[in-house]
Amino acid sequence: MGLLDGKVAVVTGAGGGLGRAHAMALAAEGAAVVVNDLGGARDGSGGGSAMADAVVAEIRAAGGRAVANYASVADADGAASLVATALDAFGRLDVVVNNAGILRDRTLLKLSDEEFDLVVAVHLRGTYLCTKAALAHLREAGHGGAIINTSSYAGLIGNFGQSNYGAAKAGIAGFTRVVALEAGRMGVTVNAIAPLAKTRMTEDIAAVPADITPEQIAPFVVFLASDLAKAVTGRIFGTHGPQIFEYRQIMTPGVTKTDGPWTPDEIARRLPDIAAMPGAAPKAADDTVEKVRALFLAIPLGFRADKAGDWAATLHFKLGSGGEYTLRAGGGKAEAVEGLDGSPTATITIDSGETLLAMAKGDLKPEQAFMAGKIKADKMGELIKFGQFFNLKKVAAGGASSGAPSATAGASTETAGANRALIGKLYKGPARHVRPEDAIAYARATDDPNPRYVEGDTAPVLFAVKPVMDAIAPLVTDPSLHVDLLRLVHGEQEMWFHRPLRHWDLVYPTASLLSVEDKSSGQLLKVKQRLLVDGDPVVEIVSGYFVRGEKRGGGEKKEAPPAPVRELILDATQEVAADQPIRYGHASGDRNPIHMDEKVAQAAGHPTTILHGLCTMAFAAKALVDGLCGGDPAGLARLSCRFTRTVLPGDRLTTRAWREGEALGVEVVNQRGELVLANGSATLR
Ligand code: NAI
Repeated sequence: MGLLDGKVAVVTGAGGGLGRAHAMALAAEGAAVVVNDLGGARDGSGGGSAMADAVVAEIRAAGGRAVANYASVADADGAASLVATALDAFGRLDVVVNNAGILRDRTLLKLSDEEFDLVVAVHLRGTYLCTKAALAHLREAGHGGAIINTSSYAGLIGNFGQSNYGAAKAGIAGFTRVVALEAGRMGVTVNAIAPLAKTRMTEDIAAVPADITPEQIAPFVVFLASDLAKAVTGRIFGTHGPQIFEYRQIMTPGVTKTDGPWTPDEIARRLPDIAAMPGAAPKAADDTVEKVRALFLAIPLGFRADKAGDWAATLHFKLGSGGEYTLRAGGGKAEAVEGLDGSPTATITIDSGETLLAMAKGDLKPEQAFMAGKIKADKMGELIKFGQFFNLKKVAAGGASSGAPSATAGASTETAGANRALIGKLYKGPARHVRPEDAIAYARATDDPNPRYVEGDTAPVLFAVKPVMDAIAPLVTDPSLHVDLLRLVHGEQEMWFHRPLRHWDLVYPTASLLSVEDKSSGQLLKVKQRLLVDGDPVVEIVSGYFVRGEKRGGGEKKEAPPAPVRELILDATQEVAADQPIRYGHASGDRNPIHMDEKVAQAAGHPTTILHGLCTMAFAAKALVDGLCGGDPAGLARLSCRFTRTVLPGDRLTTRAWREGEALGVEVVNQRGELVLANGSATLR
């Protein structure tokens, strides 16, 4: 039994070198192979049938199936003939390995236009023509497939004297990423390898060791061609002899300026931060330490004694390379000193002085800094109070006279109400495919082994919450919304499922603020979200987020009235695993540290990490689908609930449902009978 039994592969440029090794390895795993080669020299000149014929003979001698094709991939008719040869000889086509290539190395000023065009024509245009011809057939055939392109270090990183070749190979990388998006819906994967091996192409390059062979690369091509790589697409892998790695395109988090347009001078100063890798500490500019010192010592200017009441604290601040400070507050006064002084009531660690400056300037919201892990505290409550009781905006403005940076935009440690002017503004996320690996990971993270999710192509009903994050995040972090994320609690959720999401659906998320309601203890923000596929809403969601006000109280739960007697039609129990919050965090993309980091959860007053409300809702959806829809997620048309109580690992959650007119009443209780999801309602179809 071969890995590729029953499949048919085309390998271009398979008369020698890497293409020959790919063709032999694919045939050895059971694929029938079309061996294409123009039979020319390394520079693309000449031609003949001998090279392709020799490889066909080798494959047949080893017991495999192969036919030759002598067309040029740079020619549209030639590309079409590859598909025709596969269908004529073997009746189908599954895999195309775009490998054919030539070299015309010269530095740019010596390079002729013809040499540029020729190299681009064989590599880039050849890949384009063969992929297009094959994809047209694969779409019709409907059985999926795999396209494997060949890029190169020269295009992805750069190599002296290869501007023509590098441009073509980088073009192939971009082509791979884009066509992967388009072909996903046809079940066709599109990836690229960037190989390194001794062949006639590299025979005179001393940097390529003689002992790395095409045969070392070929197993990776077999892997990409096989069902083992069904979920691998749009990716570019380096295969250097025995070493396999991935080339990744990274967008740094960058710097967002909120207080007016950038100036070139400012860009020059901030370039190290603009280019900093995710998670890297911002590079301190030379005068940063001095600016941080001036700002920090001015922090008492922003003390809101009236709000702080009888709060007394000694806060130690550790600012990485930005220094260490102590801030004392009590008796209506605050003072700041350099160095760590006295025994702290809390220690606040900020990754660098730049982060503090950026917050004071309004370039970075404190809650964004917290979410990004730039600020940590051993006692969360004290950090929140610091945010409430010190007005950094005033510090930055008032501190100007003492040398602190002047700032215009305010750091939003203030909790003014949410900005109603944003009601109706549409926030959009990028269109993304529902990747099978993401949908399956979500099913696993919610302990839902429904075969439709883990073996079929349906995404779990609650999976929609992951792609909509791309549209909600820009809304809730919009600086002009004036909402403090640390005070935001997800209170309620209603979801309409027009149809289940499926693997490779190209979903486009949008979010908009529906309403802002004032409540006695804060504000309730309702956010509408939609996931569109081909312009039609497939899932619609309204989430209610409660923003706790400055006044506490009223937050304690009122005891629920005794439950009415109901005729239950569903009563299903599921246990929350020890690692459920962290698993759910990874699978859903909601990595709020209160779910992921035990220390943060404890600092916020919980015994350990707490479970996401949406994971509890996913448990309820699972119980409804399994218990009342025969396991078919299409049976669930709507589900709504309120999140009423913290859920911890080890809790046993019971979902109950009963009839309420046309709909069902739903609730989830813990092992103590306390409601964790209340006021639930579901509609089945
Ligand atoms: P090679 O020169 O042995 O193989 C290229 C094959 O393509 C030749 O057999 C040639 O006759 C054929 N070919 C050229 N033009 C054609 C056309 N228009 N139509 C059909 N066939 C044509 O070189 P090698 O090293 O095996 O290269 C294979 C691929 O790997 C190329 O795309 C190359 O750019 C790429 N590559 C190779 C590296 C290496 O270390 N060998 C490094 C990075 C990329």
